[in-house]
Amino acid sequence: MIKIEKLAGYMREKYRFGWMGCICIFSVCFQVQAQKAGIIHPGAAWPDQKGNPIQAHGGGIIKIGKNYYWYGEERRQGLDSNYRYVSCYSSADLVNWKFEGDVLQLSDPENLGRHWVLERPKVFYNRQTKKYVMYFHLDDARYKLARVGIAVSNTATGNFKYVKSFRPLGHESRDIGQFIDDDGAAYLVFEDRPNGFHIAKLSADYMDVERDMSLIPQHMEGGAIVHYKGLYYAIGSALTGWNPNPNKYAIAKKLEGPWSPFEDIAPPAVKTYGAQSTMLLKITGSKTTTVLFMGDQWKPKAQWDSRYLWMPLEIGNGKLWLPEPRSFSLNVKTGEAVLQKDRE
Ligand code: DGJ
Repeated sequence: MIKIEKLAGYMREKYRFGWMGCICIFSVCFQVQAQKAGIIHPGAAWPDQKGNPIQAHGGGIIKIGKNYYWYGEERRQGLDSNYRYVSCYSSADLVNWKFEGDVLQLSDPENLGRHWVLERPKVFYNRQTKKYVMYFHLDDARYKLARVGIAVSNTATGNFKYVKSFRPLGHESRDIGQFIDDDGAAYLVFEDRPNGFHIAKLSADYMDVERDMSLIPQHMEGGAIVHYKGLYYAIGSALTGWNPNPNKYAIAKKLEGPWSPFEDIAPPAVKTYGAQSTMLLKITGSKTTTVLFMGDQWKPKAQWDSRYLWMPLEIGNGKLWLPEPRSFSLNVKTGEAVLQKDRE
């Protein structure tokens, strides 16, 4: 403590930092240090390798070789309001992330007008065509278009080029999620307001949505799926805009269903600890398999400061539970996630 006081005094003198400046710098250093140790802090500001807050909201992750790629909505301040941006970060350990840039920078592709929407980008890698195919929710300001857009790249880190937009299988589609099964098959999860929650298989080249595996008559956003020890777990949130609500899950032996009734993933009163699901990420290691809940803690009035709530789930035998958030270490080689003693 004495050393910190001395250092702060030195910084105040030499660089004319105020006390608040010193505190901010120390807290960023502390977090970068904690991340080096392989610790994830759910809901805390999460700096990338350069110390900038990670901007990958409503995102999804794919693993290519040894690297993970995290794509999401870029919402930093000062962006050109004529464009929508999708960011990409890479990591070998899911804790330390390198910003690879905004891999899609798109101007209004369908004459949607002011405040048009690009949300929840998800990227699939197609082994046959060797293309990276990005899906996203494309909409006008009133969310009436309800389509998916597709952009394609030859590399994981872009640039992606816009190709087209459409309504999957002719249905309205707002929030989308991605699911890649253990056999490599790729599925789009999409929210269809009149009908429910679709799990639909992509075409061989991933440029289209080919057929419904299930249409669950439940209205759920932020849809995500994981295949764990012989069961499929589907998760999603209620339709409450940017506000949190109790997220729920159902299980099935096959993607075609039948699906169980939906149950809470956490005590309903905590509203998913202020988060909304975006993905369930399975990490299969040499010792164990961990399933991470990835959620967004939205801040609608300061979206650039929206946070990520990642937590290892308690999952198995048809049950899924999101424990109270606390820091955890993650080892992608062994698959182990270890909760830390300090509760956040
Ligand atoms: C909830 C969705 O999950 C978000 O992606 C976003 O579309 C908001 N609604 C907009 O209110």
